[in-house]
Amino acid sequence: MAKISLNLSNTGIGEKDILVYKEQVENIHKDLERRANDQDDFVGWLELPTKYDKEEFARIKEAAKRISKDSDILVVIGIGGSYLGARAVIEALTSSFYNMLPHKQRKFPKILYAGNNLSAGYINDLIEVIGDSDFSVNVISKSGTTTEPAIAFRIFREILENKYGIEEARSRIYVTTDKEKGALKQLADEEGYEQFVIPDNVGGRYSVLTAVGLLPIAAAGVDIDKLMQGAQQAQKEYSNVSLKENACYRYAVARNILNKNKKDIEILVNYEPKLHYFTEWWKQLYGESEGKDLKGIFPAGIDCTTDLHSMGQYIQEGKRSLFETVINIENPASSLKINSDDDNLDGINYLAGKDLNFVNQKAMEGVIEAHVSGDVPNIVVNVEKLNEETVGRLIYFFEKSCAISGNILGVNPFNQPGVEKYKANMFKLLGKPGY
Ligand code: PA5
Repeated sequence: MAKISLNLSNTGIGEKDILVYKEQVENIHKDLERRANDQDDFVGWLELPTKYDKEEFARIKEAAKRISKDSDILVVIGIGGSYLGARAVIEALTSSFYNMLPHKQRKFPKILYAGNNLSAGYINDLIEVIGDSDFSVNVISKSGTTTEPAIAFRIFREILENKYGIEEARSRIYVTTDKEKGALKQLADEEGYEQFVIPDNVGGRYSVLTAVGLLPIAAAGVDIDKLMQGAQQAQKEYSNVSLKENACYRYAVARNILNKNKKDIEILVNYEPKLHYFTEWWKQLYGESEGKDLKGIFPAGIDCTTDLHSMGQYIQEGKRSLFETVINIENPASSLKINSDDDNLDGINYLAGKDLNFVNQKAMEGVIEAHVSGDVPNIVVNVEKLNEETVGRLIYFFEKSCAISGNILGVNPFNQPGVEKYKANMFKLLGKPGY
């Protein structure tokens, strides 16, 4: 069982500091457990890995098979929590160049995204890329009323209908939405599209392990049984109320202690480019959950070593309001030996015979040491390897620690009232009826 381990030795936080939060964390723990099955609350994600709809899960796998058979491309339409989780998992677990691989190697459809912006250029470019290829659409929206995915779906539905005719287009549209509310639900009922449900008590950014994430993830050939198994192991492990043992709770407490010490920005750091979208998912999870009531740790992210050549200067010597959390993949799946070169004109023969993973590891160690010496406390989340199980674990780890952390901070980590403000302005400017 590949556990996640936490290294807090570069945070300046001692065991005593952590245990100050013992009673508070125990109370939050009990409160979350009490609310887990309340359909009118948003804590349904807590037991989701063991309490999901098995019939729907089987239907997701069937739908993924069908998409794989009849489509070279799946267009995933959604925004925020309705697409970031799927993209995070797919990119973490497939080739860095998945969509560029020939079908023979890829074996599963390309996964392309729409409905996460309002750029005409983006949609036109996507239409061009799809060209004559066979494609299907998975439109995902919990509210069923979000503007960006609604516009994208209107466009791609029309393209599907023109290309395949109304009937066949219907069989290529998969809708993931609320079980009864919203314009998308109504449209799906009227058109007879296959539907998947986002449970009432699971909010958008906590929904990756529902059909929201699982259908696109399965369509990309990722084993969703194993993903759920990883989350199940995490659910079990992190139901341990002991703050001495529960790494997930310790992470939540550590970031709050750092925040009290004027560290207002947390940077999630990876040394594996495949985790770029995992960071985007994490940013949404923590940003939308904690940034309210004039509180919150601002979640940022860097990809290493890439961003050391752009953001490294600020992190080392800029305003001292930062701390870092590194996701360290201990055993990368791929390896690459650096060969010796007779001329050594590039001067890197000192690395000859070494594996690139070794160089990456030393870069990480050197960066941690430098940043810590520059007063940037450092948390390391160690993950044995990157696979379906460990990604399932990581998802649950961060979801639960986010819920604990938000509660310690004194905010409701399950709402997002601030997101509505810009929408009201935009709708007014666009002349939407009622605004
Ligand atoms: O976490 C959230 O609730 C949000 O980020 C939503 O996922 C996002 O706004 C999209 O909403 P919807 O799924 O209703 O289209």
